[in-house]
Amino acid sequence: MSNSMWGGRFAGAPASIMEEINASIDVDRKLYRQDIAASRAHADMLGRQGIIGADDAEKLKAGLDEVLREIEAGTFNFSRDREDIHLNVESRLTEIVGEAGKRLHTGRSRNDQVATDFRLWVRDAIDRIDGEIAALQLALAERAVETAGMVMPGFTHLQTAQPVTFGHHLLAYVEMLSRDRGRFADGRKRLNESPLGSAALAGTPFPIDRHSTATALGFDRPMANSLDGVSDRDFAVEALSAASICAIHLSRLGEELVFWTSAQFGFVRLSDAFTTGSSIMPQKRNPDAAELIRAKAGRVIGSLTSLLIVLKGLPLAYQKDLQDDKAPTFEAMETLSLSLSAMTGMIRDLTPDPDRMRAAASLAFSTATDLADWLVRVLGLPFREAHHVTGRIVARAEARGVTLDRLPLADMQAEEKRITADVFSVLSVDRSVESRQSFGGTAPANVLREARAWLERLGAPSTARPK
Ligand code: ARG
Repeated sequence: MSNSMWGGRFAGAPASIMEEINASIDVDRKLYRQDIAASRAHADMLGRQGIIGADDAEKLKAGLDEVLREIEAGTFNFSRDREDIHLNVESRLTEIVGEAGKRLHTGRSRNDQVATDFRLWVRDAIDRIDGEIAALQLALAERAVETAGMVMPGFTHLQTAQPVTFGHHLLAYVEMLSRDRGRFADGRKRLNESPLGSAALAGTPFPIDRHSTATALGFDRPMANSLDGVSDRDFAVEALSAASICAIHLSRLGEELVFWTSAQFGFVRLSDAFTTGSSIMPQKRNPDAAELIRAKAGRVIGSLTSLLIVLKGLPLAYQKDLQDDKAPTFEAMETLSLSLSAMTGMIRDLTPDPDRMRAAASLAFSTATDLADWLVRVLGLPFREAHHVTGRIVARAEARGVTLDRLPLADMQAEEKRITADVFSVLSVDRSVESRQSFGGTAPANVLREARAWLERLGAPSTARPK
C-alpha cells in the first residue's frame, strides 16, 4: 500500500529497510508538545486569515487538544509508517476531526514545521537548563558562605601553590556557571525567531500572517528569509556549544571531587546518597556520580561534533540530513541536565574536612610567596631578589624537614641578615589567606562578601542567607 500522505505519486510501499532508515518517530516523538502548539497557532491563523473556514479552524484546534490528551495519557499509537511526529499527529487528527484535518497543511510544509518545533524544543531546554544551572550556583554559594574561611591548598601544576579557601574555590565555579548561563541566554535571543510560514523553502502564495503565528508561539518575530528558515540549525549548534562548555566546567569539578575524596587527599566526604560501594572491597566508597559527570562531557561534546558534521557542506535548502539534528541535540541537553542535577545533589550533601585541608595547605612551603612579599614590603628588596632569597630559605627548611614557620630565625638570617622575628607573622596559612584582600582574592572577608552577593543575585530566600 502506498503512503496516505503522498500516495498520489506512488504505487508501491517503501522497502522495510527504507522505513528503518527514514522513520524518525522514535526520536522526534519528543517534539509532540511543540508540534501540537505550532499546529494550533497555524490553524488559528489560517482561520483568521480566511484561508480555511472558521469552523474548520475550531475543529482543528479542538482535535489537536484531543491528540495532546491522548499522547499525554499514553493512549496514542505512534506508528513508524507515518514516519515522524508531524505525520503521526496530522493523521490521528484527521481520524478525529475528519475532512477539516486535511486542510491543516495548507500554506506550510514539514520543513518549516520541523524547524519551528525544534526551535521551540531547544528554547524550552535552554530555559530548563538555566534553572538547573542556577540551582547548582545556589548550592555552591550556600556552601561558600559556610566555608569562606576554610583554608585549603591552592594548586598550580597540581603542586601545592598558595593557601586559598574552600569557599573561594567553590565560588570560582559559580562564576564559570554564570558565564554558561550567559552563553545560553545569548543563543536564546538569536534562536527566538519563527521559521513557521517559510513553507517548503520559498514561502507560500496563501495570505498567511507569519507575525501572528510568531507571537502566538512566543517568538520575537518571523525569520526574514524562507530558505534560511528551513535549513539552518545554528541555534542548536549554539546551544550545544554552550552545553559543551558547561559540561567541561562540570567535568573539572567532577575530577576535583574524585581526588578530593581519595584517602590521600581526604578533603571532602560525599554522602551515601551520591556514592556507591564495591562488590568485592568492603571498605570502598566510590564517587561514581562525579566520575560519570566527568565522562558525560564527552557525550555532550560528541553531540556537538556530530551536529556540526551533519551541517557541514549541506547545500540550501532543506536536506534530509537535517533529520539527524535531533538525536544529538536531545542527547546533549538531557545529559547536561542530568549532570547538573547530580552535581547539585553532591555539592549540597558533601562534608568538607577542614583539618585535612588545613594540614595539606601547610605542606610544601605554601607560604613561601608570603615570605618573599615580606622581604619586598619590609626590607624593600626587589621582588626578583626576594624570590631568590626565599628559594634558598626554602631549601634550608627542606633540608631540616620543617615548614617555613618552624624554621629557626638564625637559618633565615644566614640568607638575609636583616630578617627579623616579625616575618613569622606572615608565614601561617591563615595570615596568608587573610592578607589576600586584593579584588577577587581569597581573603575570607572577600569570599564571604562575594558568596552573600551571589545568594542575593540568585534570589535565595533571606532566611537561607547566613549572616
Ligand atoms: N522528519 C523530518 C525531519 O526531522 C521532517 C521534515 C521532512 N521533510 C521532508 N521534506 N521530507 O527533518
